[in-house]
Amino acid sequence: MLPYGRQSISDEDIAAVVEALRLDYLTTGPMVERFETAFAQRIGAKYAVAVCNATAALHLAMLVAEIGPGDRVITSPNTFLASANCAAYVGATPDFADIDPVSYCLSPEALERAWQPDTKAVVAVDYAGQTADMPAISDIARKHQAIVIEDACHAVGGQFEHTGKLWTIGNHPWADITIFSFHPVKTMTTGEGGMLVTNNPAYAQRARQLRTHGIVRSPSEFVGLGDDTLDERGPWYHEMQSLGYNYRITDFQCALGLSQLKRLEQFLQRRREIVARYNKALADCPLIAAPSLRNSSDRDVTSWHLYTAQFDFARAGITRSEVMQHLREQGVGSQVLYIPVYLQPWYRKQFGYAPGKCPIAESFYQRALSLPLYPDMTDADVEHVVACVQNHEAICT
Ligand SMILES: Cc1ncc(COP(=O)(O)O)c(C=O)c1O
Repeated sequence: MLPYGRQSISDEDIAAVVEALRLDYLTTGPMVERFETAFAQRIGAKYAVAVCNATAALHLAMLVAEIGPGDRVITSPNTFLASANCAAYVGATPDFADIDPVSYCLSPEALERAWQPDTKAVVAVDYAGQTADMPAISDIARKHQAIVIEDACHAVGGQFEHTGKLWTIGNHPWADITIFSFHPVKTMTTGEGGMLVTNNPAYAQRARQLRTHGIVRSPSEFVGLGDDTLDERGPWYHEMQSLGYNYRITDFQCALGLSQLKRLEQFLQRRREIVARYNKALADCPLIAAPSLRNSSDRDVTSWHLYTAQFDFARAGITRSEVMQHLREQGVGSQVLYIPVYLQPWYRKQFGYAPGKCPIAESFYQRALSLPLYPDMTDADVEHVVACVQNHEAICT
């Protein structure tokens, strides 16, 4: 079965992990900092903080931005739950503005309409690897002194052109914090893993502290235990100055991350080749729309985490489940990404959200189907998926 996404693990990746397992550290050791440094260098950002998954990184982003009860955080409904859940973790209200019909990312116009006086942050999601319109989103947020977090979990290695210049996701002036995921279906993997990237030293320092229980080890920052007789500051001494978490990533995961980072260009290139082949094939199917790009610059590098096409199931006279079943019978997996987050029962119950809130995201969801896309797909695999779609009478006539 060809899954909709999967990791690519080479012999070099395996050797790198095995080598790390032979070292003294299993949890935080030298590989963590090496991975952070290499990742920051790759995207040109000042600080990268590696954590156990991107959900934890989103939670840390909320904490370092001091979002809390009484605040509203607006995100895209077309995303994985974590982009919104992070606001709920800190007691803020997750809210949603509709998506742009071309990029399927947060629409700046809808964001402006959804803005409320208590909105303190925006989580803009780079759906499928295409960057959201960060300059326009940031203009709105800055006007209201709100923080911009870019959920770039789908967009490791992505770049986009704006005013004639090429900007790298994770290092441009329109996001305060950027979050990446290294889950196995993403562009590169550490098994589970995530990265918080920022050019703000205070955010980075705070994220590092909260990643390990809010512990401070630097003597210059100590405030004491409140009793001189108990305050002996020997080599064991540390202070917990805020409520933190165990969001650490392991050394061997970072060894895998370092090895995968070396292969990132190759991954991106192969994803682009597969997307080009799918786009060409689907052009022959009038009831299927290939994913569209907001920017048409040839210089853009879209990470292409997903290949989500829009199928007109109603006109084809077939349900999505039937199409998925047809594909499955021929060894082709597919997936539906995403159910608009605010329609999830918890969100409806907790915040009173109802169908109709974001009509474009709802219509996108009804037509969405993601076809297999991952770097280890062979040309024959790609041709097989294309043939299964093209030879289906109802969906490609
Ligand atoms: C857009 C988006 N944000 C956040 C996450 C959470 O990432 P992780 O699984 O690393 O916690 C995901 C993962 O699926 C995602 O797709």
